[in-house]
Amino acid sequence: MTAQQSALSHPLRSQRLNALTHEPHSRLDKQVKSHDPFASTGRFARFVAAQYLFQYDLEKLYADTDLARWIPGLEKRCRVEQTLLDLADLEHAVPKGDESIREREMDISEALGWLFVSEGSKLGAAFLLKRMPPLGLSDSFGARHLGEPEGGRAQGWKSFVTALDSIELSAEQERLAEAAASAAFERFTVHLERSFA
Ligand code: HEM
Repeated sequence: MTAQQSALSHPLRSQRLNALTHEPHSRLDKQVKSHDPFASTGRFARFVAAQYLFQYDLEKLYADTDLARWIPGLEKRCRVEQTLLDLADLEHAVPKGDESIREREMDISEALGWLFVSEGSKLGAAFLLKRMPPLGLSDSFGARHLGEPEGGRAQGWKSFVTALDSIELSAEQERLAEAAASAAFERFTVHLERSFA
């Protein structure tokens, strides 16, 4: 069994989702970089527009009171406000999101898959934030959505993962969670391509 195969059958759901999304993540990472988002504030604004559309998709999930019983500080984890402020700082129009994800009735397993990707993207955000000074941007202007979450980045991720791993799901729900994590990466890719078109 390869390391990748054994990670896919890891006892922890978070580890399985990590393994499963490793490839889509590398693809997305390359795709982000291919658009040269750090070349100018104008290009970075397009990346922020994609981030906004993704957060807009998930805004209702983050506000879901049932889910909030499982995931600590759920509502505060949403970054839709920060992306809107960033777009305003960057003088970039707010793109119009659609309701296709927001209106979807999701099982808790699917919600977890989507949130896994959104919460995980905060880890990469620390690296992206380091690229901001040459653009004159920071976690208080133009790149607020990449900022350290309240309580710390590592702690925020750790508490999310603990919750993610502690929820009991059926075999069918495990598959739904995995499909949702893949769908979230695809959705971000669509937003990215739209924003840089
Ligand atoms: C919408 C989803 C995501 C986007 C757009 C995204 C984007 C990125 C980008 C562009 C980088 C490269 C930063 C650099 O090299 O300067 C990165 C790095 C990283 N991302 Fe993501 N990411 C996403 C989801 C995730 C998820 C789900 C996880 C983990 C569960 C994750 C964990 C990381 C980590 C640990 C890094 C640091 C370097 C590395 O290991 O590649 N990201 N991300």
